[in-house]
Formats: sequence, structure tokens, C-alpha cells
Amino acid sequence: MSKALSDPEILSIAAGFVDTPTLPDDLMKSALDAVFADPAKARVALQYGATAGHRGLREALAARLMAQGLPNVDPARLCISNGGQQSLYTVTNIMVDPGDVVLVEDPTYFVYMDVLTAAGAHVIGVTTDHEGMVPEALEARLRELHERGLRDRLKILYVMSYYSNPKGCNLSRRRREELYAVYRREAERSGEFLFIEDASYRDLCLEGQDEPFIKSWDAANEHIFLCGTFSKAFAPGVRLGWSYMPAEVHEALIRQKGNQDFGSSNLNQSVMAELLTNGAYDQAADRFRTRYRQKRDTMLAALAEFWPAETSILKPDGGLYVWASLPGIETEPGSPFFEEVLRHKVLYVPGRYCFCDETQEPRPRNAMRLCYGIAGTEEIREAIRRMGLAAEACR
Ligand SMILES: Cc1ncc(COP(=O)(O)O)c(C=O)c1O
Repeated sequence: MSKALSDPEILSIAAGFVDTPTLPDDLMKSALDAVFADPAKARVALQYGATAGHRGLREALAARLMAQGLPNVDPARLCISNGGQQSLYTVTNIMVDPGDVVLVEDPTYFVYMDVLTAAGAHVIGVTTDHEGMVPEALEARLRELHERGLRDRLKILYVMSYYSNPKGCNLSRRRREELYAVYRREAERSGEFLFIEDASYRDLCLEGQDEPFIKSWDAANEHIFLCGTFSKAFAPGVRLGWSYMPAEVHEALIRQKGNQDFGSSNLNQSVMAELLTNGAYDQAADRFRTRYRQKRDTMLAALAEFWPAETSILKPDGGLYVWASLPGIETEPGSPFFEEVLRHKVLYVPGRYCFCDETQEPRPRNAMRLCYGIAGTEEIREAIRRMGLAAEACR
């Protein structure tokens, strides 16, 4: 794929990059000017800061999370990280020893799977449907862990709660409640493990209402590690993410993060604090949502026009991805379809990369992730048209 990406003629709907023309350079510049218009703020921005993050940003974020329905967010239990990726990496390394079990959605965020593999985790998939993780499938996996003598190795349950990567699906309120209930029943009966709720795509809701964070049911902040990012609805180049967690996890996380970097860029955090408090973050998120609605619809319309009628498509209500399956056509790397699509100079993410080794059902071989994040509307339409020709040729 990296070889193919070096070809400038390639149309990529693979990488989860964001829409370049919508990136908020104007809002960023105004916020940077505002920080530097105040010498006291400017000097804070240029000094070392607290490892857990800029106080003003943590307070603004806590207020925002409470406005989004979380009860009693304590800024002292928040950590600002270098993207959401750093918080996932750090918490995983705190929790997981080689051979420990981590349960993930099947399919899941494949970059996180690399983090788990590097930590030596035994990654086991839990079946998902059009909403996301299925509570009965989670129960079945937990039973199986007991039977296999692996239950005391279980350390993490990782769930994407909004517009997941790669399926683009969103848990209903009822499903959130059920998953949390299954988790608590099991943890109380057989020992605690950490629930990681990855809410990275929450601010990219394109349709319908915002469901509550699963963390809302953990009102005393005892069980769930909730993480998110400013990458998807503002700018990934700022490299800021956040996490909110129970006290003992926070202590361990801050120790680890201190060893890594003494804290994330205080300059970027100062600007982000400004953006959250003056409404500019919401303005940027709003622009992205408008743009992604248009691009998602372009992709769905092109799929309907150019792909075989039997194609199965999950229509996303948010996020950046469309999960599509072509019955009877394998999409794996090296498959005739993959090669034909490459010959047409298009790149997609084969579904295979998103499934762990221990899937609950036979791993589907005909799925793929399509991203409408960075390609323009004309490129999206053209990429889908060319992939339709490839599907025709492989039938
Ligand atoms: C589900 C999920 N979580 C976390 C991240 C981390 O993103 P970042 O490090 O840019 O915040 C991503 C990025 O694509 C993602 O898709």
C-alpha cells in the first residue's frame, strides 16, 4: 500500500484523514493571536506544564463533557495526550502483560490492534452487528474465557461507542446500557477489568441525536476509561486527545506519560483551551459535519449507481467510514479484486486488516472500509465508479 500511495495518480479512499479544505486555519490563527495578545497566557503557553495537561483546557473539557451529559467530571482525573492514540497506547501498556486477554469489536480499529499486538496481548473479537458490539456475543465470549481458563487474564474490554472505525456504526442507548450491565455483572462476579470507551468520533454526528456516553452509567468514575480526540472534528495536526478515568488508573497513566514527554505541548493546549471556550471548536466541528454529510451522500449515491445491486452497505449516521461487502468477491490484499482496483489506481482498506485472529464467526473475506474523509466529492465518485468496474470484472 505504501508503494501504491507514492503514486500521485492513485485515488485513495483508504486512510482516515480529514477534509483538507475544511481544516480551520482561520480559527486556529485567531486563537493563537488571542493567546499571544495576553503576555501572561503566552508565557504559560511557552513554559513546561503539568503532565496531566493545561489546567484551563482540562476545565473547559470537563465543562463540555458535563454539558454532553456526563455527571460530575473532575478535571483532576482528565489527561490531555498527544492525540487519542497516545492515551490508548499508554493505558494499554499499564494494563496489559504479554498473554493477557483484551476483548475488542469484531472488526475493530486496526491501529489499536497493532498497539495490542506490540504489548503481547491475546486479542479476542466479539461479534458486532449494524449497531456495534452485541451484548449476547460479549456474554458468550466471557463464558468461553471461563471455560478456557483465561478469565483471570482478561484486562481490557475495548468498545468504540460512536460511529466506529471501520464499520461506522453507532450504539443505541439501550445497547449502551446493556453492554455496561454485562460488563458490571461479570466484573463484580469474577474480578475487575477495565472498560475502554473510545468516543473519538462523537463530535461527527451527521444524523439523529447524540446518545449518552457509556461512561454516563459510571457516575462515580470507578470503572470506565473514556477517551476522545480533537483530531477528527478540529485538526489532527494539533495532535491533542484526552481521556477521563478512575483515580488509580490516572495515577499510573500520569507516571507513564511523565516518563514519555512531561506532558503534551503546552502551546497547543493553550490554543485549544481558547478554541473550546470561545465556541470556535464547535464552529469547526459544524463545518466538518456539513462537509461530511455531503461527501457521505456522494459516496452512497455512487455506490448505488456503480456497484452491483447485491452489495451490502452500512449507511453511517456519523464519522468517516462506509463499511461495504461484495457478496462472492474477495477483497483481501492480493485478491483479484484488490489487484484490479489497484490497476484502476484506487486504494481501499481490505476488511481483513480490521479483524483480529480470533474472530467469533468465520472472518468475512469480502468486506472493506471506504473513507470519505480526505477525498473530494469528484474523487469519491470516480473512485467508486472505478471500483464498480473492478467488481464487474471479478464477478
Ligand atoms: C477509533 C479511533 N480511536 C483513536 C484514534 C486516534 O486518533 P488521534 O491520535 O489522531 O487522536 C483514531 C484515529 O483514526 C481512531 O479511528
